[in-house]
Amino acid sequence: MTTTQDLLDIGRDRLVPVYRQREMVLERGRGSRVWDNEDREYVDFSAGIAVCGLGHAHPALVDALATQAGKLWHTSNVFYSEPPLRLAEELVAASRFASRVFFCNSGAEANEAAIKLVRRHAAAQGRPPERRVIITFHGSFHGRTLAAVTATAQPKYQEGYEPLPQGFRYVDFNDLAQLDAAMAAGDVCAVMLEPVQGEGGVMPAADGYLQGVRELCDRHGALLVLDEIQAGMGRTGTLFAHWQDEVKPDVVTLAKALGGGFPIGAMLVGERVAETMQYGSHGTTFGGNPLAAAVARVALRELSSPAIAANVTRQSQAIRDGVAKINEKLGLFSQVRGRAVLKPEHAGKAGAILDHAAANGLLLLQAGPDVLRFVPALNIGDTDVAEGLVRLERALESYLAP
Ligand SMILES: Cc1ncc(COP(=O)(O)O)c(C=O)c1O
Repeated sequence: MTTTQDLLDIGRDRLVPVYRQREMVLERGRGSRVWDNEDREYVDFSAGIAVCGLGHAHPALVDALATQAGKLWHTSNVFYSEPPLRLAEELVAASRFASRVFFCNSGAEANEAAIKLVRRHAAAQGRPPERRVIITFHGSFHGRTLAAVTATAQPKYQEGYEPLPQGFRYVDFNDLAQLDAAMAAGDVCAVMLEPVQGEGGVMPAADGYLQGVRELCDRHGALLVLDEIQAGMGRTGTLFAHWQDEVKPDVVTLAKALGGGFPIGAMLVGERVAETMQYGSHGTTFGGNPLAAAVARVALRELSSPAIAANVTRQSQAIRDGVAKINEKLGLFSQVRGRAVLKPEHAGKAGAILDHAAANGLLLLQAGPDVLRFVPALNIGDTDVAEGLVRLERALESYLAP
């Protein structure tokens, strides 16, 4: 009989060890609960890193996948199939800015497509390569392909992968004056940013900042690319995070929750750049396959509903209040928002706290070594939130126990 330890040994010995995986083997999920192969149950405050927006095994998603699986999985992009066509139409209609969509399989690929598109747009305007600079922001995260990791202005993700692609410039997030100065030479073709920096520590753009970035892009002749891979699809209480700032981007990238847990990414392009990429200029084998698109159509429909937006507001407040209350008692965090920032005396301990959380039946995430990140399913219910908070308190107490 294969034991849990046998499985963990395979993970340790046979997987390229790029992840720090916890010592458990998850087997099944329903809603915001997950069970491991020894039938231990967990409240899921992680949703597969902001992916399973509708929780696990959502009946409408399961049905869409099963139905499409019995019809057609893959055709290649040299033939049309209906699900990606419908999804493209629905995303364009939902987006309030896009006129075309490119489908891919992940966030990094969506950003890679965006990086290529803005460069090509600049090339079409007759700009030489040295005047096709892309500005990104310290603390950002855009994925792990070589161009996406270069856009990711955090040395820890880049070290050892040099030489990196040229033509990226980094500035501080939420500092418009610095951005303006970095664009002054007129060599910037695009500014790319997350409305809420996710992996970089759950840092939202300041009020009015995105509008300021839009204005600077217009003044300096640059395109605005918003990476909504983590912040989009309802996570901030609106389908797109940038709706709250009323800016109109040129390009938006999506992935993660777009497929409700099934891999799919998308680059949405506005009018101005809709014709930039033409036949042969980009492509991918699996992007927009009928299976992924069929599931994403249902995810989009569900995540667009007012009930989801209302639930996000309600549960984010409940989690914030709950964590603040725990903090009154335990005094671990210097700041509590959609994240909880550890005080200096607990710096670097987020990973250790996640171990205590898992041991107490809670799946939780960090965003860097000092930040606990709360990204549950957007349809999580009151009972799961309350139970998750009880387990969080237990976990933090056991972390603090001598
Ligand atoms: C904002 C953002 N962009 C891009 C990515 C990369 O997405 P993927 O891991 O699907 O390549 C992530 C993943 O965490 C992300 O949070």
